[in-house]
Amino acid sequence: MTHVVVHLTSLPRHTRGASRALAHTVLAQREGRPVRITADEFGPPRAQDSRTSFSISHDRTVLVVAVSDVACGVDVEDAAEHELAEVAYRFCSAAELTGGLPARMWWTAKESAAKAMGRGLRAGLRSISFAHNPVLRWSTVDHRERRTDLLTRVVELNGRHFGLTVRAPRPPSVSAQVWKPLQDGESWRFVPEGRLDG
Ligand SMILES: CC(C)(COP(=O)(O)OP(=O)(O)OC[C@H]1O[C@@H](n2cnc3c(N)ncnc32)[C@H](O)[C@@H]1OP(=O)(O)O)[C@@H](O)C(=O)NCCC(=O)NCCS
Repeated sequence: MTHVVVHLTSLPRHTRGASRALAHTVLAQREGRPVRITADEFGPPRAQDSRTSFSISHDRTVLVVAVSDVACGVDVEDAAEHELAEVAYRFCSAAELTGGLPARMWWTAKESAAKAMGRGLRAGLRSISFAHNPVLRWSTVDHRERRTDLLTRVVELNGRHFGLTVRAPRPPSVSAQVWKPLQDGESWRFVPEGRLDG
């Protein structure tokens, strides 16, 4: 069965240095060696010389890194629902807009899928749709122009939505590891704080 670990930490503000430091920490923990991360201008960051995939997201105070053997994408969003609802026509279809589900849910579902495709916003969020409501169950992802083989799930927790997408034929098992951030000047270190399995 496909497994995904979602690594979470709480930060007062986001910096690229912090997200890279957490990604380096969790990749080294998984592989038992330091792993170099590479990225081109518009592409996803990748673990060099490794089959592990990872994806990063942050909102105002939470940083998340999802890690798996298969392509994955994660998105966390704490923007107020009314702010996203105002611009939802840019990323939702007419049916999605009138379906009564929160705009923030659609945003995180679609961004996580777009990240798992490795294209980010260039995937065209309006081109992405779901066979089922991803809040209720893992849902297959459809893209107007390409086959995806992706599954997405969204959870709402503590005033934010988390979207998680994986390239898998069946729903994956997911566990979560919480990390405590330690800042030294501009450098960040992370120490394990607890693990949630399920
Ligand atoms: C990354 C992106 C999908 C969403 O960003 P966002 O909602 O502002 O921020 P999030 O915190 O959720 O995600 C940011 C992380 O996504 C990751 N990311 C960047 N590009 C990515 C891509 N093409 N695919 C997957 N992940 C990507 C990065 O790790 C980044 O975190 P980091 O800068 O700390 O390393 C969006 O900015 C994007 O598509 N960027 C690519 C540039 C691009 O194509 N621009 C044209 C837009 S039409």
